[in-house]
This record gives sequence, structure tokens and C-alpha cells, in this order.
Amino acid sequence: RSFSVRIVVFQEKFLILQINKHVKAMSKEYKRTLITTALPYTNGPVHIGHLAGVYIPADIYARYLRLAGRPVTMIGGSDEHGVPITLKARKEGVTPQDIVDRYHKLIKESFEGLGISFDIYSRTTSKIHSETASEFFRRLYDKGEFIEKTTEQLYDPEARQFLADRYVTGECPHCHNQGAYGDQCEACGTTLAATELINPKSTITGATPELRQTKHWYLPLDKWEPKLREWILEGHKEWKTNVYGQCKSWLDLGLQPRAVSRDLSWGVPVPVEGAEGKVLYVWFDAPIGYISNTKELLPDSWETWWKSPETRVINFIGKDNIVFHCIVFPAMLMAYGDNFQLPDNVPANEFLNLEGDKISTSRNWAVWLHEYLADFPGKQDVLRYVLTANAPETKDNDFTWKDFQARNNNELVAILGNFVNRVVVLTHKYYEGAVPAPGEVTAADREMLDELQALKTSLTENIETFHFREALKDAMGFARLGNKYLQDCEPWKTVKTDPERVKTIMNLCAQLCANIAVAMEPFMPFMSEKLVKILGGLPLNWNEIGSADLIKAGTMLGQPELLFEKIDDEAIQKQTDRLEAIKKANAIAAFQPEKVLPEVSIDDFAKLDLRIGTVLECQTVPKANKLLRFTIDDGTPTHRTIVSGIAKHYKPEELVGKQVIFIANLAPAKIRGIESQGMILSALNADGSLVVAGPTDKCNPGAQVK
Ligand code: 2FM
Ligand code: ZN
Repeated sequence: RSFSVRIVVFQEKFLILQINKHVKAMSKEYKRTLITTALPYTNGPVHIGHLAGVYIPADIYARYLRLAGRPVTMIGGSDEHGVPITLKARKEGVTPQDIVDRYHKLIKESFEGLGISFDIYSRTTSKIHSETASEFFRRLYDKGEFIEKTTEQLYDPEARQFLADRYVTGECPHCHNQGAYGDQCEACGTTLAATELINPKSTITGATPELRQTKHWYLPLDKWEPKLREWILEGHKEWKTNVYGQCKSWLDLGLQPRAVSRDLSWGVPVPVEGAEGKVLYVWFDAPIGYISNTKELLPDSWETWWKSPETRVINFIGKDNIVFHCIVFPAMLMAYGDNFQLPDNVPANEFLNLEGDKISTSRNWAVWLHEYLADFPGKQDVLRYVLTANAPETKDNDFTWKDFQARNNNELVAILGNFVNRVVVLTHKYYEGAVPAPGEVTAADREMLDELQALKTSLTENIETFHFREALKDAMGFARLGNKYLQDCEPWKTVKTDPERVKTIMNLCAQLCANIAVAMEPFMPFMSEKLVKILGGLPLNWNEIGSADLIKAGTMLGQPELLFEKIDDEAIQKQTDRLEAIKKANAIAAFQPEKVLPEVSIDDFAKLDLRIGTVLECQTVPKANKLLRFTIDDGTPTHRTIVSGIAKHYKPEELVGKQVIFIANLAPAKIRGIESQGMILSALNADGSLVVAGPTDKCNPGAQVK
């Protein structure tokens, strides 16, 4: 018996040791965290998909580490090379440099506007970047890490250039989507080589490309496969399932050498002899941008941030970037050697859709950050909140304006704003704004404080493990807890019977507000700053969350000020109208006329009797919301009745007096009990609108159309 007890004790100790080790491995072992955020392409502004997928989660994590007093550097910057940028420049008749200058500025400023706290936001057209990327390539070249291969590539004889990546479109060999690109099919997500496309076409001239020989440098990913396998599949089972799963399927398919150069004029020139007219592939130079930007920020200590095993590198990216961050860039770093650290985690998110449709820069189907900031001044935190609460962490998610409004009005205003406001108002009412000293703590207070501790533990663990949606729920839990506590304690009643007790309640409520200011800072820094001011100043320290002594008794609270305002239907309608207009414009741009029907003879045509008629009367048909009933002057004294399914497109009075074309010899048909004696002709537009066909000038009713 005593033996078994000893075993239990031993096991418990062992368990504690294990847990501690786990916590250590998660954070404490590392002296510093280097956060990288995917460098966005500068061929357009950033949108909510970028924010929800990459920048908001990264910012939450960076702010959290800073508050916890743990050294962190957050690296950002623009990815300014790649074919989409040169294509856009060509379309606008400007230089690629003009394009990247325009969008780099816009992106940088809008990130600042949203409070994304990069330690540096630089760009890949910087001098330091081209030097760093060149040196990187050169070292791999000198070490013999590349394979040089001459292969046949697509060449546009009219534009006199090779067609890399998005310079070619054609049919996807896998899903037969007609609009696949030379690097990827967006319909089925497959990565492609331009030469795999069926019926390729140049996107510059529309010409059919020919094959020409050209030399390129390939990184033999297959050489690194065993190491990558061990590192990811054995060493990083804790990665998100979507990330781990994608890596596993790439590795299981077997890695192939990948070209890291292109025949293009825009990019970092390949720094070896015999490489005129060739640049580094954008996916070779872009991740090196993380290194160059760190160098630019910390010229003397950047190596500590990249090469020390005590640094933990975390890459925040979207799911389309997984292979580059988990396979290609790590292989580059392994080939380079010199102790470059591989990412410790790559918490990639899935995609965010907009009102049920895939976000797309080229189709303008997005909520653009710079437009949001202009339309909703002072409401940065609302967007940060909604995009975190609805982040596509485990599956694709949908952003809708209705949900945005509901979360603002029902959560931020009604729960968080309301709690803080009640506390500040009551403190002014009872104590002229000075936080009272607490008295004896009751069981109800204890319970509330215990709950606060539990929330803090869950909140921290969720942030540590990149579950930001859940973390935000925990942080909102502070305000929910506060509202419940106020409701249960009812200080507005107790104040009459036991004013001493109310001092404790209101002190604890002020403490809760202070806790909210700290716990919410990573998620909603603007609100947090405002709240700190209302609370008369406060040192922000994550490690003190849960404390009931954050705000000193006697501290004067500021005047009550609304942290959030309701968003009305009109503001939301404006946004949904804008999207509706974009949808229409896209449908018009994509309009393809129907295929022409099989040929008919003139005799066949002559059988149809088309006439002009004047609409004398037009009425809705009871219980048939699609139908209109017309009385048409067809030149006969009896006139005729026609029923037509166009009620969705016209109000009856709009058509009275108009002349239309109708088929006069169509066999009559009973529609809803009405005999329809013909058919009115109309045309359907790409945007779904419908127009009744009629003569351009007045005609005699009954005149034949031939
Ligand atoms: O997908 C993209 O927008 C890329 N420009 C991301 C690059 S991430 C890094 F490697 F720079
Ligand atoms: Zn496809």
C-alpha cells in the first residue's frame, strides 16, 4: 500500500516536472522573439483579408509580449517585386517603381492608422535589401548549392521576352479552368509551371508563346527533404493542423528542385556572370526581406535576432504562403548555414471572405483598409475587434457588414463600453470621481476575483498558443464579469443601507476597469489608451493582470466618456451599397453574350409577326409578384391583353404610354387565369436589369417590324 502511495507521489512530481518543461519550451527558454509578418505585394492596397490573416494576429502577439516585458521585434515591409506589379505598371502606362512607390506609401500609412506596431516597415526595393538578397544568392552559388539548368521556357515573340509566372494564362491541366496563371491555378490552388498550361497565351500581347532555351538556377529542395521532414514532421507536431498538414502533403509528394531566377527586368539582378536580363525569383528575395529589414532596423545587433538559438522566430502568414515559409525559405536558410534560425512556429490563417464571396484585389471585392479608416474615423478598434472575433483561424470565414454592426452595437457598446461607463458615472456620483479605499472583502468579491484569475490564465494561454479568437473572448469576459458583479451587488441600492460596503464594490469595479485596460491593449490599443486616461494613468504590465491593486485608492477618474458609439443602419447601408455597385460593375465587365442560336431561313423568320404596340394600361397581377398585365393598342379597335413577367424591373406606371415590340401571332396562353395574346420583347443586361425593347421613334400602333 505504502509502495503504491509512493508511486503516486512520484508520478505527481513527474507530472509537475513535465508541465514545467512544457511551459519552458513554450516561452521561457527563449530570450527574444522575432516576429515576421508576410510582406504584402505592392500592386494594390491592403484589405481586411490581409489584416485578419496576418497583421492583426501578429500585432496582438507583439503587443502582448511587450506588455509582458519580453524582448520582441516585429518586422514588416512591402514586397515590391514580382510579375503582378509589372503587369499593373504596363496596364497604367507607368513604371513599376511608380506603382510600388504609390502602394508602399498607402500601405505603410494605413497600417500606422490601424495601430499595427511594426518596429520597422521597410521595402524590398531598398539598397540594403538588394545587397542582402544578392549576398545570399552569391553565398549559395559559391557553396555549390544550386543546380544550373538550361530548359525550354515560354517566349513571346511579339513582346520579345520570356513569359514568367503571371505573364502567361491558359488552361489548368488539373481542373481545366481556362484562366489559370503560369505560376498557379486560382481555381484549384495547384502550383504550376508556365509550360504546363494548355493553350498558353501571353498576357502582354495575347500571342501564342513559343519555346526557347534559357538558363536558370535551381535550389534542390529534394536535397533538404530529410532534414525538413525531421524538423517539421518530428519536431513541430504542435503546429496548427492546417500548417502541419500542408507541409506533410508537400513532403509526402516528394520535393523537386525549384528555379530561383527569372527572365525579367524587374527585381534583384542575379549576381553572377552570364546572368544578364535575369533577376531573383520574387519568392527567393521576399523572405530575405525579413532579414534585410531587421538589418536596417538593428545594424549592430541583427545577427543576435537571427542566429542565436535563444531567439524564437515566428512567421505570421496566410495559408497561400505556407509552402514558401515552411519548405522553401527554411531550405534556403539550411543551405546558407551560419546558424540562421528556422521558424519556431508559423501560425498561418485560412482566408476571410467578404459577404460570401472570395476577396479579390483585381475584382475590387474587398474592404480596403485606407477606405475603412476614412469612412470610420476613430473606429480602428472596432475593425480590429471584429476581425479578431471572426478570424479565420481554423477555417475560412466570412466578413459581413451586418455582423460588424452587431458586434459593435451588442458587444463593444453594450458590454464593454457600458460597464466602464457605469463604473465611472457611479464613482463620480458617490465619491466625486475619487476611487474609494476598499473595506472587507466578501465571498462575492472573492468569487469575482477568482473568476478574474481564471480568465487571465485562459487568456494568456490562448495568446501563447495563437488562439486569438478565444483570447479575445476571455478579455471580453472581464467586462462581462464586471457587468454581472455590478448587477449582483446593486451598489445603487446598497448605498442607502451600507455605504462602506459600496466603497469595496466600487473599488473592485475600478480594478476591473484597470484590468480591462491592460488585457485589451493587444487587441484594442486605442480604446486601452483612452481608458487608461479615464482611469487617471496606469502602468501597463501584463504580469499584473488579475491584481485587485492596479489602481490606487484616491485616484481621480476622468469624466465619463463613451469608449464606443453605436453604428447606425445608414453607415452600414453605405457600405453594402458600395459592394452592390462593385458586384454590378464586375458582372458587366465579365459579361459574355449568349452563343448565337442555330441559323434559321428567311422563311422561318417571316413566320414571326412582330408589331409595334402602345401601352394603354398596365397593372400588377394579384398574388403574382412577377407579372404585369398590359392592355396594348395594336391598331385594332379591340386592343389586346398581354401578360409579361417583368414586374421586378418596372413599376406599372413607368410603362404607360410607351411603345413596345410584341409577337402578334404567338399562340395565346392562359397565365393566372388571364389570356395573354402575345409576348413583349425585352433584353436582359449583365447586371440583371431588364429593358423592354421598343422603337427609337414614334410608330403607328400595329406597324409591322421586319
Ligand atoms: O502573398 C504575398 O502577398 C507575398 N507578397 C508574401 C511574401 S511573404 C515574405 F516572404 F516576404
Ligand atoms: Zn486548376
